[in-house]
Amino acid sequence: MAGFLDEIEPLKQTALAELKAAPDIAALEQTKGAWIGPNGRFTALMKQLGTLSKEEKPAAGKLINAAKVELEAALAEHRSELELAAALPKHPTDFTLPGRRRTLGKLHPLTQVTEDIVRAFRKIGFAVADGPEIEDEYHCFDALNTPADHPARDSQDTFYIATKVENVFPSPGGEGRGEGGRSSLLRTHTSSVQIRVMKSQPPPVRIIVPGRVYRRDNADATHNPTFHQIEGLYVDKNVTVGDLKGTVEFVFRELMGSDVKIRFRPHYFSYTEPSYEIDFTNALVKKMGKDWLEIAGCGMVHPQVFETVGYDPAVWTGWAFGFGIERIAMLRYGINDIRLFYENDVRFLKQF
Ligand code: DAH
Repeated sequence: MAGFLDEIEPLKQTALAELKAAPDIAALEQTKGAWIGPNGRFTALMKQLGTLSKEEKPAAGKLINAAKVELEAALAEHRSELELAAALPKHPTDFTLPGRRRTLGKLHPLTQVTEDIVRAFRKIGFAVADGPEIEDEYHCFDALNTPADHPARDSQDTFYIATKVENVFPSPGGEGRGEGGRSSLLRTHTSSVQIRVMKSQPPPVRIIVPGRVYRRDNADATHNPTFHQIEGLYVDKNVTVGDLKGTVEFVFRELMGSDVKIRFRPHYFSYTEPSYEIDFTNALVKKMGKDWLEIAGCGMVHPQVFETVGYDPAVWTGWAFGFGIERIAMLRYGINDIRLFYENDVRFLKQF
């Protein structure tokens, strides 16, 4: 008996030392098996209890059980230590090192200017409308009172697409003249969306349409085959040129500062009567050595356009305008070459 009891303590010590020395979870599991698994040395010791006499058994059993509880506690403790160690980074963080800078992306300058323009119009109750860049001749020209033989078609030459492209923005009741496009093209202006919006809803209308447009132009410092416009359309009863001028002035002051001045010059567009070009000036324009800068076309919606979309021209009046976004961005940021907007050069884009 004495020999048996004497064996327990040193065995326990060895087991504890081995458990604590296990370098990882796998080694720990293996050590556990070797000691208290079904074929472990401690388990074998417990099995020997049966060979002891009645008097010896209780004391020996108590001692073995106590040792086993101790081993299991040591096992659990070392396991959580190992698990924690495994979860920690291999190399400790050096908090004295300088931080790593994340480079944040930015909105393109044209997007920023567009958003500012939209924000200004929203303040006075305009909603944003959208339309397709692949248009048909009907919405781009015919419905805007610009028939096939009209000279304005030459000044807005564009890219024609030979096959008929499915009309993804169908406007109700538009099955008439050329609707759906005998010829598809890349839209030359956002004015086509005027037609789509008026055909899809009754008056009054108060919308702006920011979007990309296309012309068959050679790229130079002030031209690019694709650029951006914002169209505006306001239809209601008793709308006047004064409303138009006041609106344009408000938006440009929001955008470019309170020193902005606006001037209307008579012009011709087939979908407005009367028509004007809008000139603009402020300190920036003066700094460029100019008195005025032309920024937009506009006018009172032509009665023929109202007829075409099914609005009664005896009841409804309205104005429309379209201006180029690049022009405004170039002026605002002092950019002298339009092509910079499209080159995706981060050295340029980072500056805005
Ligand atoms: N669509 C014209 C252009 O691209 C601009 C324009 C002029 C739009 C008069 C209008 C307008 O809505 O009424 O040059």
